[in-house]
Amino acid sequence: MPLDALVFDAYGTLFDVHAVIDRCEKFWPGKGAQLSQLWRAKQLEYSWLRSLIGRYQPFSALTRDALGYACEALGLALDEAKTKTLMQDYLGLAPYPDVPEALAALKGGGRKLAILTNGSPDMIEPLVKNRGLQSSFDAVLSVDPLKTFKPAPRVYQLAVDSLRVPAANIGFISSNGWDALGAKSFGFTVFWINRGAAPVDRLGFQPDGMLASLGDLAPRIAH
Ligand code: LAC
Repeated sequence: MPLDALVFDAYGTLFDVHAVIDRCEKFWPGKGAQLSQLWRAKQLEYSWLRSLIGRYQPFSALTRDALGYACEALGLALDEAKTKTLMQDYLGLAPYPDVPEALAALKGGGRKLAILTNGSPDMIEPLVKNRGLQSSFDAVLSVDPLKTFKPAPRVYQLAVDSLRVPAANIGFISSNGWDALGAKSFGFTVFWINRGAAPVDRLGFQPDGMLASLGDLAPRIAH
């Protein structure tokens, strides 16, 4: 099946959410990695909870809420200045080292490249711009207009509708295993960039490809 569009997850796939560890470590020595892990876990949990209870808030708001929860759970004092700094850091998260070269190798041949993210426009747009990646993508799609989060099927449908490419001709790339399987369930051809060598979630199906790095993707996709 020719892949006429490649759609990428953002946080954890293109941008390293744990790039905040250094700042967290500076604020709370010895706690940086633990805080970053819990912050991310709660951020995702809140996205699923808010989808299920039908009380959407933009990803920026629940990222802030997740930070507050994580700090309280770990007994770390968080004030407004620290919150502001960490939220600002989120607008400049470093891309993984394999990202720029991989995107350059995948572009071309009339194939569309896009981001499909839970991130709200107030987060993802400055991030893509600050990291100089605007020209790498034909579209940056946020769940925000749909007021729900991945892995809701209608979020993946947004890529089909916006790019005007059928699901069967879309390759979806995520490092988040749950997102990869959500996209597979929807009908995309899915490549899981399994950076952490994690097992496949027990949901009854598999991604089409499992790769250690984004750099391994281009050779798997014929132009
Ligand atoms: C995103 C989250 C899932 O970028 O990381 O959509």
